[in-house]
Amino acid sequence: MELIAVETAADTAYMIVELVAARSPRHLGVATGSSPEPTYRELVRRRVLRPRTELYLVDEYVGLPHGSPSSYRATIARQLADPSGGLRIVGPDVHRDDLDGAADDYEQMLHDIGGVDLQLLGIGRNGHIGFNEPDTPFSSRTRVAQLSADTRSDNARFFTSPLDVPTRCITQGLATIATATEIILIATGHAKAAAVAALLTRAPTPALPASALLGHPGVVLVADSGARSLLQDSYSHSEQP
Ligand code: F6R
Repeated sequence: MELIAVETAADTAYMIVELVAARSPRHLGVATGSSPEPTYRELVRRRVLRPRTELYLVDEYVGLPHGSPSSYRATIARQLADPSGGLRIVGPDVHRDDLDGAADDYEQMLHDIGGVDLQLLGIGRNGHIGFNEPDTPFSSRTRVAQLSADTRSDNARFFTSPLDVPTRCITQGLATIATATEIILIATGHAKAAAVAALLTRAPTPALPASALLGHPGVVLVADSGARSLLQDSYSHSEQP
């Protein structure tokens, strides 16, 4: 796993936007949350995404009303919206009665495009990617999953009340995420330091879901100084944007 070390969360955006611009992906995988937000702002400001880019959600909540502003579809629409409306957001149909069928259909869609060209990901404090919580098998595929108590409490900041945070989601599995041609994992802030240190210094283990990506040939970890704060000095040199 290649590490791109930057100083601040804002610096991640400048590095990643260069990488996205160079790849010009037709199918771009997107996560929500704080980690990719500076990147999304910069992608929009610099109009990097070409028209008709398809944005594939890595996960989506189950149980929110249609059109809820807290859904990941609505969040991505707000954060990556372009005035021409040319970007298409693709995700699982979480309003279907048959949720398992919806997850299978989304898996099939991702299979049919041969995996996304480029996947942007955040990492949870516990090392999750998507909503693949610790002890998820590396072979997991898109499915209905439960959010852990820690993840629900981390995500409560995006809801009026902590009780409003859904308990379930449909998430791409670890093996599904790994079908992306290239993956950029973004880690910012001290809260991610333990997960980043474990990722770069320990052997792959389902206890740390992000370590499923260690065998992938096209993964870049972009980490700011806070996220690298538990690593040795050899990881401390930051690239300037
Ligand atoms: C969100 C997602 C999650 C987040 C992770 C980090 O779509 O898949 O895995 O990427 O929880 O969240 P932030 O970036 O808010 O710290």
